[in-house]
Amino acid sequence: MIGIVGSGRVGSTLAMLLVQRNVDDITLVDIIEGLPQGEALDLSHMAAEIGVDVEITGSNDYSALAGSDIVVVTAGLARKPGMTRMDLLTKNAGIIKSVSEQVAKHAPNCILVMVTNPLDAMTYVALKTTKFPRSRVMGMSGMLDLSRFKELLSQSLHVSRASINALVVGEHGESMTPLPSYTSVNGIPLTTLLSQEQISTAIEKTRQVAAEVIRLKGATFYAPANGIARMVEAIHYDKKMVLPLSTYLEGEYGVSGICIGVPVIVGKDGVEKILEVKLSGTEKESFDRGVSTLKEAIATVQI
Ligand code: NAI
Repeated sequence: MIGIVGSGRVGSTLAMLLVQRNVDDITLVDIIEGLPQGEALDLSHMAAEIGVDVEITGSNDYSALAGSDIVVVTAGLARKPGMTRMDLLTKNAGIIKSVSEQVAKHAPNCILVMVTNPLDAMTYVALKTTKFPRSRVMGMSGMLDLSRFKELLSQSLHVSRASINALVVGEHGESMTPLPSYTSVNGIPLTTLLSQEQISTAIEKTRQVAAEVIRLKGATFYAPANGIARMVEAIHYDKKMVLPLSTYLEGEYGVSGICIGVPVIVGKDGVEKILEVKLSGTEKESFDRGVSTLKEAIATVQI
């Protein structure tokens, strides 16, 4: 069973994708009375027509998470126009601490996928609060960031989105780090197809484009939910997929004591292996800026 805490825009969209893909039973939890129950009914009606027999339930009680193999946490405040992800730090840290206690109590063996922003700091709070091993706590960040990078590259190159392979690491925030040296068009290095200036423009837009979506429609949820669904499927089907996600580092990339985005192998045990890739000069500078930001952020959080 897959538990989803927070039945708002991201949580409910994720549930819809997982039902359409017939992955597993779903339990939605939220503090708003009626909301998760209503989402569960609506989704069940959709499932009935498409002929999918997963069970979908909604509850205001965390005990409904009992038996979850995977719990996705989308609970908390979202950015409003003009806000950075870090502006949510203090309020969401309190929410994530209490949600994590409940997850550890009711689903002590689950793999926890964090989504709430600021993502890397909230993944850290969840890891420290649940005291789960680091392999069982991860955050969705790179999957979304690479969706945006891919889209921008597909526009610049005039090639199919399906031909682009990209990797984005680092902080899910102002210093997110798309990696041109690990991005290709079906194996052809990006750096041979676009100028340095064109690549820099795509990187900068990748960092900024979420703010534009929030300005235009108030929130981002389709692309985030798709990124989470990919991670859930990699765990559920033990796919051993190489995905970028936020994980706790213990010396990898020369960093310890924070969660940040890096490529990992994802399977039924969660983060099964962290892959260390060599970063170029500017990629490393950007990654290191994220490390400093995150160290400062978690120093201010009470756990
Ligand atoms: P939303 O406001 O639509 O939904 C959040 C839901 O959480 C609400 O229904 C609220 O009642 C619920 N909630 C609040 N406290 C709770 C608690 N203690 N227990 C259970 N439920 C609780 O927000 P949206 O747009 O779904 O975003 C959710 C979070 O995901 C935000 O922090 C947002 O910034 C983040 N986000 C992260 C992304 C990423 O790449 N990691 C991408 C998009 C959003």
